[in-house]
Formats: sequence, C-alpha cells, structure tokens
Amino acid sequence: MLPGSVKLVEVGPRDGLQNEPKAVPTATKVELIERLGAAGLSVIEAGSFVSPKWVPQMADTADVLASVARRPGVSYPVLVPNMKGLEAALAAPGVEEIAVFGAASETFSQRNTNCSIDEGLARMAEVTAAARARGLRVRGYVSCVLGCPYEGDVATAVVTRVADAMFNMGCYEISLGDTIGTGTPLAAQSVVDAVSERVPRDRLAAHFHDTYGQALANILAVMERGVGIVDSSVAGLGGCPYAKGASGNVATEDVLYMLNGMGIRTGVDMDALLQASAMISQALDRVPASRVARALGARKD
Ligand code: HMG
Ligand code: MG
Repeated sequence: MLPGSVKLVEVGPRDGLQNEPKAVPTATKVELIERLGAAGLSVIEAGSFVSPKWVPQMADTADVLASVARRPGVSYPVLVPNMKGLEAALAAPGVEEIAVFGAASETFSQRNTNCSIDEGLARMAEVTAAARARGLRVRGYVSCVLGCPYEGDVATAVVTRVADAMFNMGCYEISLGDTIGTGTPLAAQSVVDAVSERVPRDRLAAHFHDTYGQALANILAVMERGVGIVDSSVAGLGGCPYAKGASGNVATEDVLYMLNGMGIRTGVDMDALLQASAMISQALDRVPASRVARALGARKD
C-alpha cells in the first residue's frame, strides 16, 4: 500500500552544490535555501562541515547558516564527518540537526572519508553521542546500498549491518543511498526489505541518484514497501565528488510531479519549487536536469 503523504528531504544545496566545478557564491546558496523553504520543503540540507581540502564547495557553510532566514518548522541539517566537523557545526548559528554518513563498501569508505567502514562507524558513534548530548537530532546516510563505483556489487548484509549500527547509535532516520544510481526496482525493494528487519520501515529514506534514469521507478518501488521519506535535489543538481560518474540526485520537481499525480501529499508547492529550480539553473548557467522543470518551463515560454 502506498503512503498517503511523503516527507521530501531537499538535498540540493548540499549534495547538489558540493559537486559543482565552479564556486557558487554564498548569497546564491542562501537565496536557494530560502526559496526552497518558501516552496514548502520542511527539511533542507544546508551544507556540510567536511574538510575544505576534500570538498571546497562547502567551505562557506557557516556563512550560509549565518545569513539564511529560517522558517519555523523547517529543519536545516548539515553533514558532519568527525568531531572537528561537529565542533564547527556547534559553533555555527542555529544548527539543530546534523547528518552523519558511512558506506556499505570498503573502497568507497576509504575514498570518501579516508577510513574503513568500521573506523567510520566508530567516528559516527562518537559524533552522534556528542551531538545528541548537545540536543541535536542526527540523521544517518548509508552510501552504495545498490552498488559501488569501485567495487561494483555490494552485499546487502553489509548494508544491513551498517544501517543497523547507525540506527542503534542514535540516528533517528537512515537514508539509503544509491550513490551511483545503478539500482533497479526489485533490487531496491530487496534492500529495503532486508534493512527493515533491523530498522523500522518508517525510519528509512530513499536517497536515489538518477544516473541511469531509474530513480523514480525505484522510489515508487520502495514506497510500495512502506518507505515514506524521499531525498531529492532541486533541478536534479548533484552527484558525489568521490563517486565518478554519479550524476544528480533525482530531481525534486520530478518526484513532486509523480506524487501529485498519485494524490500523495507533500506540502510542497510546484510553482514555487519551479522558481527555485529556475533561479539556481540560471545561476549555474544550465538547463535543469529535471524533466518536469523543462516541460513546465517550456510551457510557460
Ligand atoms: P583526513 O584527511 O583523513 O582528515 O580526512 P584528518 O583528520 O587527517 O585531517 C586532515 C586535515 O583536514 C587537517 O587539516 C584537519 O584539520 C582537516 P591540516 O592540519 O592538514 O590543515 N579537517 C577538517 N577541516 C574542516 N572540517 C572538518 C575536518 N576534518 C579534518 N570536519 C575527512 C577525513 C573525513 C575529514 C575527509 O575525508 C572529508 O572531509 N570527507 C568528506 C567527503 C565528503 O564530503 N563527501 C561528500 C559527502 S558524502 C555523499 O555525498 C554521499 C551522500 O549524499 C549519500 C549518497 O549519495 O550515497 C551523503
Ligand atoms: Mg548523495
């Protein structure tokens, strides 16, 4: 049975912009986040406190947080890889939620965070405990749940082990990342079924990149298995700097169009979302990767 409503987690300002070859001005990021809030998104990932040597695009996250006009009821989580990142997040204005991230592939873990899966879990446990002790909410990501850019197939047992560990350390929600978008619907359902033996289905989110054009089909497939939280990125921005060939996340406009068509509530307004999409696409000097934005934008011309 499909859910009556879906929570959309907007990751464009982080997962999208972290992968931009050219620097995006802080003011542009702030405007994007504010427009996404105005469109009705209740969770907007605002940036990350990772090493600026690894991901220079996110180096101004503290400045973004200092400028953004927050809306009541909207959460603005930031990615944190280690205690240094947590200290920076705590020193920044208004951080109430962070996200920690690990992977189900050893090679990806090394390339993305310079440590093994288990070293990463130990770091995350320390960060999560310290963050929760300071009253922050902690979300958890598992990358490579349906394939790894370096190792290819990934064992579902490893996905389950990592997701279980992150849920037990205190992550309130576990986002399952198809980092390189190679998954297909039955495989996506299998991973959700396996993980849900350890983590309740209503705590699982789908974080699907659209590299192979499978994301909407995969989202529908996991919604049929009880997933009601979907990560997406305005204009289909994104990728991962440590996953070669990973294109953007599924576009928020495309997910919203599908959910609207099925009568599933999100609280997000399509017109306002399209304005945010047009604004960031113009700033980046490109057409949106979202098919819906292109179709509806073309209709307005
Ligand atoms: P490391 O080099 O092993 O770290 O990197 P280190 O502890 O040895 O420190 C090296 C230098 O970095 C030191 O500076 C530290 O101070 C500094 P130096 O002494 O050389 O001047 N440093 C930091 N600076 C700022 N903030 C910090 C920080 N930590 C250390 N937090 C580390 C390890 C984890 C830091 C690094 O690998 C890193 O930053 N990785 C993050 C990579 C990343 O952001 N990837 C993209 C996000 S994940 C993703 O996109 C997937 C997702 O979307 C889900 C999906 O799609 O599957 C979430
Ligand atoms: Mg991602």
